Amino acid sequence: MSEHRVRVRVEESVSLEARTQAIGRELLARAKQAHAHLSSLNRWTTQLLRWCLADPHVKSQVLRFLDCLPSLTTPRAVVRHLREYFPADGWRLPAALRLGVSLTRPGLLTAPAVSFMVHQLVEQVAQQFIAGARAEDAVSVMQRLASRGVRVSFDVLGEQVTSEAEADRYARQYVELISRLGAAGHVSVKPSALTAQFDPLSVRESAARALGRLRLIAQRAVEVGAAVTLDMEQVEYRELTLELAKQLLQEPGLGERVRLGVVVQAYVSDAEQAVTDLLDWLAQHRRRLAVRLVKGAYWDYEVAHALQMGWAVPVHRRKWQTDRTFERLTERLLASSSMVRPEIASHNLRSIAHAMAVAEELKLPKDTVEFQLLYGMGDAIQAAVASLGWPVRVYAPVGELIPGMAYLVRRILENTANESFLLQDFLETASADTLMAPPGPNGGSHG
Ligand code: FAD
Ligand code: 2OP
Repeated sequence: MSEHRVRVRVEESVSLEARTQAIGRELLARAKQAHAHLSSLNRWTTQLLRWCLADPHVKSQVLRFLDCLPSLTTPRAVVRHLREYFPADGWRLPAALRLGVSLTRPGLLTAPAVSFMVHQLVEQVAQQFIAGARAEDAVSVMQRLASRGVRVSFDVLGEQVTSEAEADRYARQYVELISRLGAAGHVSVKPSALTAQFDPLSVRESAARALGRLRLIAQRAVEVGAAVTLDMEQVEYRELTLELAKQLLQEPGLGERVRLGVVVQAYVSDAEQAVTDLLDWLAQHRRRLAVRLVKGAYWDYEVAHALQMGWAVPVHRRKWQTDRTFERLTERLLASSSMVRPEIASHNLRSIAHAMAVAEELKLPKDTVEFQLLYGMGDAIQAAVASLGWPVRVYAPVGELIPGMAYLVRRILENTANESFLLQDFLETASADTLMAPPGPNGGSHG
């Protein structure tokens, strides 16, 4: 059946919304049950995130401080920045930091001690979202999650490298990681870490530069039977990233064997057209891809950057628009499962329930679609999805904190955004009606 006809059938179905509601309520009940014995955020993280959320100015100062922390090479520099970013009395700092800052003033605490405390605090928060520092950690994380029936995709922390030597190191880490993981291996790669000149103004040349390193990763993955997904970063890299995927898929001897995935971000205003173009290309070139559907992790950056440059903002401005596009694209990708392997990556129970209802409607076997969540976020949702018999994969970053700081900042932003699903205290207070409302200007996620 053509994609169009299947889509029309789904859109016309009066039962789709009813099934979404029923599945959503079932998921919610199961997530509540799982929540009773799973803590979703650790105490430190909860404290820091609550504190960040309380005041937008504090939040922006914390994020700015975290952003520059990796470049502060001496304890003195850490203390100087700490004072600069958090100067006045009356800041509602977490107790450990407040103590640290106040003790440095009269010289009671040395700069190395304060710097140590700051790094400890950041590492405590990072442990929430980062699975481990070394490749060995990946194997134990994979085994632990496998015992719960959950698969993993590993991301080696790093992005936007500044030298070709750094890009070489990044690619080497992936090759080693894949060798350790074997056939169950699944990795997610940031294209901007594959070359220091990942330049959107020269798409073909940049893709060719990055391709050399991606090829090494893909070849090792093919040898052991592992899979590789190219993450999607800022919108300016989208075309370049897709070009990279297409070039790899056309590599003689590799293109038809590699298990490759790409990411579609529903918040980009022309995401639907981008999916049409991708499906056309796949049909024309007789290639198959995994497609991970996400909402998009760079929203604050995209809006601020476009406004600063005087450009049109490339992403939706209202959350319900992103949520609605996510549902439309879910329908399209599931209807195209002969050409793509759909991966629904969200922690939002409404988005997940809708995808399950669509899969049911299309009579797709459960293993046609995979649900994906981020490490450290929504363990109860993860358990609920798995308990209904759907495949679940967790995206787990491994590596050093310094190259991982940007990732950490994105997770903090996500977990402190007023409109985030994860913040709605859904397991304790939010009503099922609110959580499951269809996205629209007067419906769900009406930010
Ligand atoms: P929700 O709370 O339902 O949605 C939050 C999202 O809504 C925000 O992230 C943003 O995209 C959108 N949003 C928030 N406010 C607004 C607004 N005012 N207007 C319009 N839209 C708004 N992201 C990437 O960019 N690239 C990746 O490669 C990537 N890989 C991922 C892999 C996995 C396994 C998962 C689970 C997520 C991944 N993400 C990626 C992150 C993803 O894009 C989301 O940031 C994250 O999942 C939160 O969305 P949600 O559906 O879980 O939660
Ligand atoms: C990010 O790095 C998960 O790819 C997503 O924020």
